[in-house]
Amino acid sequence: MKRDFIAITDYSSSDLQNMLDLAIDLKKEWKTGGNQPILKNKVMSMIFQKPSLRTRVSFDMAMRHLGGDALYLSPSEIGLGKRESIADVARVISGYVDIIMARVFDHEHVVELAKWANIPVINGLSDYNHPCQAMADALTIIENFGSMKGLNVTFIGDGNNVAVSLLHICMKLGANFTLSAPEGYDMLPQAVELGQKIALETGSKIHFTRDPHEAVKNAHVIYTDTWTSMGQEEEAKKREAVFPPYQVNEKLVNEADKDAIVLHCLPAHRDQEITNAVADGSHSRLFPQAHNRLHAQKAIIVNLLKGI
Ligand code: CP
Ligand code: NVA
Repeated sequence: MKRDFIAITDYSSSDLQNMLDLAIDLKKEWKTGGNQPILKNKVMSMIFQKPSLRTRVSFDMAMRHLGGDALYLSPSEIGLGKRESIADVARVISGYVDIIMARVFDHEHVVELAKWANIPVINGLSDYNHPCQAMADALTIIENFGSMKGLNVTFIGDGNNVAVSLLHICMKLGANFTLSAPEGYDMLPQAVELGQKIALETGSKIHFTRDPHEAVKNAHVIYTDTWTSMGQEEEAKKREAVFPPYQVNEKLVNEADKDAIVLHCLPAHRDQEITNAVADGSHSRLFPQAHNRLHAQKAIIVNLLKGI
């Protein structure tokens, strides 16, 4: 049966660890002469309902590095669910290419796409989660600390799609997760419940606090993201009034573990959720993290197409 990559919670801890080990191997191979063309003649169709830099370029390059190819379908091009039903799009594309990556507004749309496609579907961000980002985040944390086990990962800001997948990968790989969000911007209860269930098996801990200073105490990883996600633009002004106490600045970073690293999925809004001093400072791993999208996604694609 074909598999999809829709959510971190669809995978076991050991499957995720194996994919991350593969990402490390593929990264090493790429840096020492290039990858083997194991995806020769394989083509990915990339469906975008929203803008992108990292997801669009890193998936395209991941396919090329492995000997395959990628096809970009822009938001205006196919009108997913508008010009044509998702079920029909899925069945048509399945006859042309080998794998689909989709960035959608409504999470149910990527689930529906996966249901009707008879080729693997990768979720390249929905309003609910961002699992490929979480894989790159885990890879970056592992490269810095050797493992995620026992680390304290703190997310400061909106309990959004990026935070959901980060919570879930922390739970799967044995890290503790703290969220500090202002009132009204907590994580969806169903995402928290899923995290709590995994925590019972792995021993990870989840903590919520409105106080960002309490949240970063003993943190090994400080993570933040935009205050206003794509699709929420009309709320931007309201959010800009609420979120400033949750800015990741030098004062806050200095309250964390002295070796703490700072992550951000990007795009960053400098001097809103993160200051220039932090984004470009010694704790920042923002660009290695963005580059790890390439390596983590190679492993996801190879896992789905080759079963490795
Ligand atoms: N982090 C991330 O997904 O970036 P893009 O929106 O540029 O793809
Ligand atoms: N939370 C952000 C992430 C962008 C990569 C958004 O959904 O817009």
